[in-house]
Amino acid sequence: MAPHDPATETRRVLQFPAGFLWGAATSSHQVEGGNRWNDWWEYEEQGRVPHRSGEACDHYRLFERDFDLARSWGHNAHRLSLEWSRLEPAEGEWNAESFEHYRRVLQALTDRGLEPVVTLHHFTNPAWFTRRGGWARRDSPGLFSRYVDRVARELGGRVTYWLTVNEPTVYVMQGFVTGEWPPCRKNAWLDAGLVLRRLARAHVDAFRILHDSCPGAVVGFAHSAPVIEPCSPARTADRITAAVRDFILNREFFRLIGSRPDPGRPINRALDFIGVNYYTRNIVRAGSGLGALVGRQCGADHHDPGPLSTMGWEMYPQGLRVTLERFAGYGLPVLITENGVATEDEELRRRFLVEHVAVAGEALANRIDLIGYLYWSLIDNFEWAVGTSAKFGLAAVDFRTQERRARPCAEDFATICRSNRLDLDTFA
Ligand code: FCB
Repeated sequence: MAPHDPATETRRVLQFPAGFLWGAATSSHQVEGGNRWNDWWEYEEQGRVPHRSGEACDHYRLFERDFDLARSWGHNAHRLSLEWSRLEPAEGEWNAESFEHYRRVLQALTDRGLEPVVTLHHFTNPAWFTRRGGWARRDSPGLFSRYVDRVARELGGRVTYWLTVNEPTVYVMQGFVTGEWPPCRKNAWLDAGLVLRRLARAHVDAFRILHDSCPGAVVGFAHSAPVIEPCSPARTADRITAAVRDFILNREFFRLIGSRPDPGRPINRALDFIGVNYYTRNIVRAGSGLGALVGRQCGADHHDPGPLSTMGWEMYPQGLRVTLERFAGYGLPVLITENGVATEDEELRRRFLVEHVAVAGEALANRIDLIGYLYWSLIDNFEWAVGTSAKFGLAAVDFRTQERRARPCAEDFATICRSNRLDLDTFA
C-alpha cells in the first residue's frame, strides 16, 4: 500500500489492503430475543436490572434478513456471539437444536460472503452458572472450557476468527464494582480481581482448545480500550490516578494471559491477534479516601470535549490512533472489533464513522497491521442497562414491528466497504 503522503494530490484517499475485513458487530443477548436461559434474563425478570430484553430484535428468527442487509451494504465480515445458555441451558445438558441453529447462522454468513468473527462469551452466562457462584468459583474456567470444547467440535470447521471473551475488564467493573450488571455486586474489589483472573484462565484454556481442535483457528479476545488521560497533567495525583486506571483497564488482562509488549521482542503466549473495541476517552481526577487511586471521571467541560453521544461518551477519534499504536506494540495483527456511536443525529454518526475509519486508514499507512474494522452495531439493539434507547445501528429497528430501516450512514459505510477505500473528498 502506498504510504500516506500529505504532499500529493491523492492525499485524501485512503486505500485499504485486499482482504481487509469490513462489517458490523452484534452480540446474542442484545439482538436475538427470548434468551430466557441466561443470567441477564433472570435479573431482568427479578427487576434487578432496569430493562427487559424481551424479543430484542428477534434476530434469532430474522438473522437471514439481517445478513442480507450486511451483504447489500458490501460487508465481507460479521461479528456475532454464541449464546452459551442456549447451547447448555442446564449444567452438562447440551441442546442439539441450538447447535443446529448456529450451524445455520454460520452457513447463512458463508452463503453471503460474510466472514464470521465469533465471540464465545459476550457478558451473558447461563443462569445455572451464575446461580452456583459464576466466575468467582474456582471451577468456572473448567465449565467454560467444556462449553468451548463442545463448540469447537460442533461448529469449529466453520469459523476462523474467534474471540474468547468480550471486554473482560468491563464485565468485571460492571458486575463487581458498579454493580449495574449481573451479578450486581457493588465495590466487591476482591472478587473483581479474582474474576478477572478466572476469565484470563478461561481465555488461555479456550485458546489451546480451539487450536487443538480447529486447524487454522485465529484466536483473540475483544479488549475494551479506553484512552485514559489525567484531568490535569500537572497534578501528580491525577497522573497517578490515570496510570492506575490505565493499568487496571488496559494492561492487567494482557499480563494475566502472558502477553507483554516489550519493545523489539513482544511476548504472546495465548494470543493470535488483538480485538480492539474503541469508543471514547476517559478523563480522570484523583478522588479522596478509598477512591483516591482509581479516582473519578472528570465531567468538567474545561477539556473542550468533542460531541457527546446519547451515552454521554465523547467522540474522540484521535484516541483510536493512540490505541492502535499502543496495541500494535504487542506485535500482533489488530482487528477493530467494535467502534460506533449512539446518536439520533445522523450527521454526527457520519462524522464519527468517517473520522474513525480515516484514523484506521492512516494507521495502516503507518505500517500498523490492522486487519479489519467492525462497526457497532449492525442494527439498533438492547443496550444492557439502558435498554433500547441507545441508537447504535446502521439500521434503525422498530421494536414493535421488527421493521429495519437503513440509516443514511449505512450507505456511506457501504461506499467505503465496496470500494475498499475512503475518499475523504466524497465525505467532506
Ligand atoms: C461495548 C459492548 C457492546 C455494546 C457496546 C456499546 O462495551 O461490548 O456489547 O454494549 O459497548
